[in-house]
Amino acid sequence: MNAQEIVRLNREYTFFSWAVQGTVDPIPMARAEGVYFWDAEGRRYLDFASQLMNVNIGHSHPRVIQAIKEQADRLLYAAPSFATEVRGELGRRLAEIAPGDLKKTFFTLGGADANENAIKIARLVTGRQKIITRYRSYHGATYGAITASGDPRRLPVEPGIPGVVHILDPHCYRCPFGQEPESCHRECIAHVEQIIRFEGPENVAALLIEGVTGTSGIIVPPDDYWPRLREICDRYGILLIADEVMSGFGRTGEWFAVNRWGVVPDMITMAKGITSGYLPLGAVIVSERIADYFEDHMFWSGLTYSSHPMSCAAAIATLQVYEEEKLLEHTRQMERVMADGLADLQARHPSVGDVRGLGLFWVLELVKDREAREPLVPWNARPDELGPMPALTRFMREHGLYTFNKWNWIFLIPPLPITADQIAEGLAVVDEALKIADEFAR
Ligand SMILES: Cc1ncc(COP(=O)(O)O)c(C=O)c1O
Repeated sequence: MNAQEIVRLNREYTFFSWAVQGTVDPIPMARAEGVYFWDAEGRRYLDFASQLMNVNIGHSHPRVIQAIKEQADRLLYAAPSFATEVRGELGRRLAEIAPGDLKKTFFTLGGADANENAIKIARLVTGRQKIITRYRSYHGATYGAITASGDPRRLPVEPGIPGVVHILDPHCYRCPFGQEPESCHRECIAHVEQIIRFEGPENVAALLIEGVTGTSGIIVPPDDYWPRLREICDRYGILLIADEVMSGFGRTGEWFAVNRWGVVPDMITMAKGITSGYLPLGAVIVSERIADYFEDHMFWSGLTYSSHPMSCAAAIATLQVYEEEKLLEHTRQMERVMADGLADLQARHPSVGDVRGLGLFWVLELVKDREAREPLVPWNARPDELGPMPALTRFMREHGLYTFNKWNWIFLIPPLPITADQIAEGLAVVDEALKIADEFAR
């Protein structure tokens, strides 16, 4: 099939996510290696999005491909009531890399159902109903997970599940409490406790919070945020769930973002980087205390493809790659390179209002006016409100750079093995593209 035929069949017979179907313009992807992929016409793109922020070890890693092939020859599928070597081994490895006493894992197929199960577990263990999550958050597209998401993708499908309460965010560039760093008293943390008290702590099962907020704009919380959430949860007997679906597996230079602040949640949900996207897998790992609860209580959950042997084998090999190639250390080194490169872009482009991130998890927030921080295009912009953003995206693609862009944000989230030269190669294209945005900035 040629490129046009591939796109035609995809568009005619399959749905694309989060899109008015008549407007989609997909790149027909043919192959991928390392930090690059190629379209069906042979054009190369630098993948500054790690596809959907999941191909953390880079594309087509031979070790993982080999592990998948070997597992296919050995055992393709086992029902989830069976024990398999790869399932046991992966469970043990996750307990080793997870912080504190997090020990026992339930495997799902992706991030949304990991969060669904974390919510269910929290309700079963505490006997409480309410789940507190943040407005600027995304936890998945299934009904419970999209209700938990503060992201406006929740709005068209409400009412979702009952019992979800949203709170405001530790978003320092656009502080919802009107503070600046000099005047801040961590109103965002006091707010969490206040909402818990208004909701009745005895009704609150869990706080479900992204380790570092991903698609809602890479919100890196102040250093005391996570430790103080831990204290608040302990004070009221509330479980703390870190959604590390996007921020886990090296993305921030740690196995999990919460490690940057030395916090041990009661559960971590994960997906994406666990297999680097090579096969579908999600997981929720729980503390020993929660695991013990289910020793003599029913675990009210199940999935036909839970603990799929192929996905478990891919995950074990992926974890080996993170370790052997020292990708966490490398990411911490590249954090400086990315931060310096983006600071340089901010210094030269009036449209760059804010640069945020850590590890290899970054965003440029574009504005019309730096002083007023007026967004270049509105939050939750309709397709006809996107101003210069489609032209910017087109420019980058035409120049061989693939980024994830949303509203006034350009995300910079490359595969972790990226080199300093390859970061410079990508930022050079962003540099040129920003000239389009600068035309709209004062
Ligand atoms: C933080 C977070 N949680 C959950 C999800 C949902 O994961 P999935 O798309 O695998 O269901 C995502 C997906 O982007 C995410 O970023």
